Amino acid sequence: MKTFGVGQRARRLSGAFCVVDGLLTAALGRRYVRLWRFGPDTGPYARAMNWLTDRPGWLLRAGGLAQAGFGLALLGTAPVSVPTLYGASAGTYRRIETVWRDWFYADGHRALDQAMTTYLPPNGDVLDLACGTGANLVRILDMRLPFGSYTGVDLTEQMLAQARTKGMGRDNIRFRQMDLQVGALPEGPYDLVVSTWAFEHLSDPADVVKKAWRVLRPGGHMVLLFEISTDFWWGKVVDRALRFFSGRHVPEEVWRDFSGLADVTRYRGAFGDIGLFVLHKPTEETWGGRYITALECQPTSGVGGNIRCARDKIGNISNGI
Ligand SMILES: C[S@@+](CC[C@H](N)C(=O)[O-])C[C@H]1O[C@@H](n2cnc3c(N)ncnc32)[C@H](O)[C@@H]1O
Repeated sequence: MKTFGVGQRARRLSGAFCVVDGLLTAALGRRYVRLWRFGPDTGPYARAMNWLTDRPGWLLRAGGLAQAGFGLALLGTAPVSVPTLYGASAGTYRRIETVWRDWFYADGHRALDQAMTTYLPPNGDVLDLACGTGANLVRILDMRLPFGSYTGVDLTEQMLAQARTKGMGRDNIRFRQMDLQVGALPEGPYDLVVSTWAFEHLSDPADVVKKAWRVLRPGGHMVLLFEISTDFWWGKVVDRALRFFSGRHVPEEVWRDFSGLADVTRYRGAFGDIGLFVLHKPTEETWGGRYITALECQPTSGVGGNIRCARDKIGNISNGI
């Protein structure tokens, strides 16, 4: 969207106004639009408002929706940066982090717990990419998984400060402030690389997966959970709104080619779809000069709208990553 040199602050204010005003118009129709009829009964403003309130109700509501959409697009041109967003909300985030884990995406997070339990070997080393306030560490501790060490990295110091309080007094729990997109990840090797609700913020998630692959021990796994693109209309609206928070739903063409992708399960929830991805780095014996291609997807039994995809065709390997 062209910004015509209008400043960020002005775009944020007008974007927020368009969203709120548009949604109220869509919800309340003429009753709401009439509230804007104030001032003298004559003059261009009064004439414009009279013309507007004479339009059919459905047209006003449709116009409201279009205006809200324009507002979202405008907000997307003036996003809040990740450090600003999470720096300001770290305390709140810590208090509400269980809301989407336990309510909005409970089945996805049960599967995440299951995957961490399955793929973390006894005494194994864990790397948590964009660990935030340490929600995954809490799950590992609560489930009493027998980990050897846990390393959490994140860009936002205020989020790490919250996370540090959860690993206090244990010298096998470490945190490091870093940008996943700049430089190398902490040297491993790690048995389990985990990342949740963070790939949405990365401009090149595949590059971060490549870096993580390098520090993954042969035989190790990556378990990733993040929001993915969907055809579902509500998911598209949330995707638009996410642009304001320097995020986006990760499209399939980005995650399809992750190295070692072994399993994907899609879960539908309040903010659109999330995917739970399991990547496996073969040992030299299991590698055997072959690699797995082509995703086969099927609806999972029991849970509405969830789809599971697994690699089930074997091809010849052309290169390592
Ligand atoms: C929604 S929070 C998720 C935190 C945690 N993984 C969880 O599941 O609760 C997103 C986190 O990603 C971090 N993040 C975003 N971009 C990052 C980057 N380029 N490098 C490191 N961390 C990043 C943010 O600082 C924030 O803590």
